[in-house]
Amino acid sequence: MDYTVDWRDGRIVMVDQTLLPQTYRVLEYDNYREVADAIREMKVRGAPAIGVTAAFALALAARSLPDDPSAREEAFEEACRILAATRPTAVNLFWAIEEMRAVYRVHRAQDARTLAETLLHRAKEIQREDVEANRRMGAFGASLIPEEATVLTHCNAGALATAGYGTALGVIRAAVEAGKRIQVLADETRPRLQGAMLTAYELQRDGIPVTLIADGAAAGLMRQGKIQCAVVGADRIAANGDVANKIGTYSVALACRYHRIPFYVAAPLSTIDLSLPSGEEIPIEERDANEVTHLRGEPVAPDGVDALNPAFDVTPAELVTAIITEKGIASAPYEESLKALRDTPPDQVQE
Ligand code: MRU
Repeated sequence: MDYTVDWRDGRIVMVDQTLLPQTYRVLEYDNYREVADAIREMKVRGAPAIGVTAAFALALAARSLPDDPSAREEAFEEACRILAATRPTAVNLFWAIEEMRAVYRVHRAQDARTLAETLLHRAKEIQREDVEANRRMGAFGASLIPEEATVLTHCNAGALATAGYGTALGVIRAAVEAGKRIQVLADETRPRLQGAMLTAYELQRDGIPVTLIADGAAAGLMRQGKIQCAVVGADRIAANGDVANKIGTYSVALACRYHRIPFYVAAPLSTIDLSLPSGEEIPIEERDANEVTHLRGEPVAPDGVDALNPAFDVTPAELVTAIITEKGIASAPYEESLKALRDTPPDQVQE
């Protein structure tokens, strides 16, 4: 598939990411409620990929809206609500829903069929723009990576977490394409193992040298001088530069600071939530404790033991060396640099 999530013959198609790398199963949806379930169950995951999927799901919902204008608006809003209730942390989901809602409002006078086409057109743009943003981010970010380096990454911020190419893995891909000699260390990323199942899979498939490590191994390897920098993605970045990302990211950033290793975050501007002053306001998803007590469905803990499962943590801005976006690289103070990038017109972006 060219894109992680795509539209084919009136259906949304995607690979079931809960089955990779052992099984490559393509899922097809013609019902937006089932797409909402797929997001909740993490068949598709990763902040930008969730946003693109929600946009396509609204295009799907638009195909069966009633003719009556007020019933139609109510049905569309219900679809927005159902999709918004799937996962709380990644702001790209809410950003994409708002983009689609804005298109709906501007074109609400169109007949139902034309409106559905207009919404599908915007969803396809969101998909394409995501890959373009990742490529630009890659070009900016690659300049930060040494000619020869071992780069640590956490979770999966790759092609599978976006419409394609990836954010953190996009930076790594761009560095490799620029001829740099890069080795990747991939944290396995308990509890859902996105590093083992997805990052190792996509880098291996691309022929980029990757070594899988247990999450607890990273700090020790830093101490031995075996890691030159860390690059991760983000689910939401507050106005002050605090970064919410997969649980365990904060530990990586702390270890990087102690060992004086740069800690970079790569994320599109749609991940930046300037409405939140700091990371304290970012809603953190709590997932089922079973994900901790079990490993891919098999119990690994005593029956009945308590477990906590926050899916994300917040890394304070002071631990972030730089934030790589599609319009350039932001550094502290982030209140100013993030806002300036957000306000830069596309034709004034410095290459
Ligand atoms: O729970 P997930 O797998 O959706 O979490 C994904 C992450 O935390 C990624 O690092 C983040 O979404 C950035 S993806 C480009």
